[in-house]
Amino acid sequence: MVIEKICCLGAGYVGGPTCSVIAMKCPNIQVTVCDKSVERINQWNSEKLPIYEPGLDDVVRQCRGKNLFFSTDIAKGIREADLIFISVNTPTKTFGNGKGRAADLKYVESAARMIADLATSNKIVVEKSTVPVKAAEIIMKILRANTKPGVEYQILSNPEFLAEGTAIVDLVEAERVLIGGEDTPEGQKAIQELCWVYEHWIPAKNILTTNTWSSELSKLAANAFLAQRISSINSLSAVCEATGADVSEVARAVGRDSRIGPKFLEASIGFGGSCFQKDILNLIYLCECLNLPEVAAYWQQVLSLNDYQKTRFTRKVIESLFNTVSDKNIAILGFSFKKNTGDTRESPAIHVSKTLLDEGAKLHIYDPKVEPDQIFYELTSPYLTSEPEIVKKNVEIHDTAYSAVTGAHAIVLCTEWDEFKVLDFKKIYEVMMKPAYIFDGRKILNHEALQNIGFHVQTIGKRLSRVGSIRAQGSQTMP
Ligand code: UDX
Ligand code: UDX
Ligand code: ADP
Repeated sequence: MVIEKICCLGAGYVGGPTCSVIAMKCPNIQVTVCDKSVERINQWNSEKLPIYEPGLDDVVRQCRGKNLFFSTDIAKGIREADLIFISVNTPTKTFGNGKGRAADLKYVESAARMIADLATSNKIVVEKSTVPVKAAEIIMKILRANTKPGVEYQILSNPEFLAEGTAIVDLVEAERVLIGGEDTPEGQKAIQELCWVYEHWIPAKNILTTNTWSSELSKLAANAFLAQRISSINSLSAVCEATGADVSEVARAVGRDSRIGPKFLEASIGFGGSCFQKDILNLIYLCECLNLPEVAAYWQQVLSLNDYQKTRFTRKVIESLFNTVSDKNIAILGFSFKKNTGDTRESPAIHVSKTLLDEGAKLHIYDPKVEPDQIFYELTSPYLTSEPEIVKKNVEIHDTAYSAVTGAHAIVLCTEWDEFKVLDFKKIYEVMMKPAYIFDGRKILNHEALQNIGFHVQTIGKRLSRVGSIRAQGSQTMP
């Protein structure tokens, strides 16, 4: 079979960018991205796409209406496709068996059932969402138990490794594409057919093929390793703050060892995003189910350290502000989980904001790309304790950083947006309450320059000497 038509179920952060790049690189393939959400599809068909991702607009503009389509007609998409990507959401279960750890596979299951209902010709079904190991088996069981005569399925695992904020580059210049399938002639043939799609732009040597289970576990393992590096450096950031070492210097020295490498050693207020926590929880759940409690405990510690880091940072903010933030104006700069995305899932800014709200602070939040509704949603959604009325009363969303900081007692920088590095801090100092505090949760500001202006500055992984601010502030008492 030569793949002429691809359908993708789920037009989210994974399905949207991935299929846009496939369409761009494979002009001979018709790609239709389907979603059950009418609103999402309308946005994909509009000038303002539902997700912010550098470079995505150009790709979509180039292909949409030619060989890239966004549609709510899931049935048509499934029926016509030779290959179907499943890119639906797989949130962590919030109730029942495996609550708080296992992935809720109801959307994957429903996608599989839809395919089984509607398919009238052979399909290659590709699991693309991050799902726990053996999810392909679930898809396989559903499809094969409902197969119509003359219809055959091959199920592949093809995990996506893109990171938000760099999705287009990650897809266009992928270091590796991983495809897992069954060790049968038909399975191997399906793998080759998907390889052919990627070989339109990925060198064959970068396409790794393996069995389904190894492919699924590799995705969880890759995310767990990355998150583990962040927890490792964050754990050392606490040691640095207690001793006078500088975590950036430690990371620089450690990263020079080619066995370790320099990437993903940036200490922060903790990792966020839709994948790291969810995937490690999946891994923990898998280990528990396999009766491997020591392994589960090992990975649990990566998450516990991440929670500790968020709590530690927030506690430092409160303690520095004379142990009370009640009725104080606090400017939160950045709300997304990292720069260059509007995504807020598991963003550490949520934890920081919520804790400060619980302590009675008045928050002034600015983020270049997160919509106000999304901020309110995160601060009031059911699994958090903030009362919606308190949030409405005590949270103001601003259009600029300058507006957010006016009259603030403190700035808490939660996301490393480039624009925060070039703010006019002299001007900001003038409009803030004194003493003026800055808590740089991402280590991106020039701390010495800030101290010279007169700010009290705290950051991650480094104890700042107070010489600068004493010089600027004369006899003012330090906390
Ligand atoms: C280590 C550090 O590598 C070195 O930089 C430091 O100066 C001293 O400690 P060493 O203990 O001599 O060096 O050997 P190393 O090659 O690191 O191996 C240590 C142990 O880890 C060995 O038992 C080795 O078999 C094991 N190992 C290493 C693994 O089990 N798996 C690996 O992938 C690598
Ligand atoms: C991650 C993986 O990188 C990607 O391969 C996978 O497909 C999905 O999960 P993503 O969550 O989009 O991607 O972003 P990533 O760049 O990995 O950052 C995750 C979190 O870790 C962010 O909150 C980021 O700020 C934080 N981080 C990252 C650090 O705190 N320090 C670092 O050194 C790197
Ligand atoms: P991810 O980050 O994994 O891409 P998102 O939540 O951004 O996750 O996107 C998943 C999308 O999948 C959502 O837009 C959701 O509406 C869509 N979806 C869920 N189930 C189905 C389904 N059965 N058919 C089509 N789309 C679906």
